[in-house]
Amino acid sequence: MNASQPIGIFDSGIGGTSIFKEVQELLPLEHIIYLADSKNAPYGEKTKQEIQRLSFKNTELLVKMGCKLVIVACNTATTNAIKELRAHYSVPIIGIEPAIKPAALNSKKKTIGILATKGTLSSELFTKTAGLFTKDIHTIEVVGKGLVEAIEEGKENTKETFLLLKELLQPMLAKGIDYLVLGCSHYPYLIPQLKKILPAGVTIIDSGEAVARQTKNVLKEAELLSPKKEKDPVFYTNKDPLILSYFVNRDQKAYQVSYLDF
Ligand code: DGL
Repeated sequence: MNASQPIGIFDSGIGGTSIFKEVQELLPLEHIIYLADSKNAPYGEKTKQEIQRLSFKNTELLVKMGCKLVIVACNTATTNAIKELRAHYSVPIIGIEPAIKPAALNSKKKTIGILATKGTLSSELFTKTAGLFTKDIHTIEVVGKGLVEAIEEGKENTKETFLLLKELLQPMLAKGIDYLVLGCSHYPYLIPQLKKILPAGVTIIDSGEAVARQTKNVLKEAELLSPKKEKDPVFYTNKDPLILSYFVNRDQKAYQVSYLDF
């Protein structure tokens, strides 16, 4: 293993690009390969076995591409498969989980909302983490049914998605949450719409920055931080490259986005 090898990131689709952006900002010298398994999105409604099979398929490809570390930029894949991936691969594997701890510790109303997929909310890992940090906290868990599909179609800013979000958030609004945890890497793309729905006092948190910090720590510890920038990131999708490009090439970027059958 050497420092000039790339970092691999995968998600069920384009959601993990929100994590890519955090990693890129904190570690600008790293070469990153991103896999969007959009053909198989959403993972959130699949069985644990199926989520594990897809997570292994994506990790295998990134390892074959020579990645020195793999980021599972998907809460659903992390909460259902990270233990098995870590047991099988020798490269470090970083996962993403809903940021329950900071929300629970900082909530003044002791009432927090968690928006995530069915696969994440029903996982053992999520139940264990929630059990540790929310003993004296009222949590309202909502499955974001339909949201991943809307974002995968580039409809994150439509009126239709706004109305769906409003309906999904109703139980949280009724209970007066002061923290909303975004437990799916697709959901940061909904923040502009969420801000229009939530009262001003509600803080929205996600785990993107924490994943980037953890990645840096692990690479530093292993002496695998890239000393100089050699290549721009590359993106692969097994569905529509135009949609992935729409998400990663905002802000005047011109990254390479290609179709790959994986
Ligand atoms: N981005 C994935 C996550 O963080 C979306 C899961 C899905 O495809 O349903 O959970």
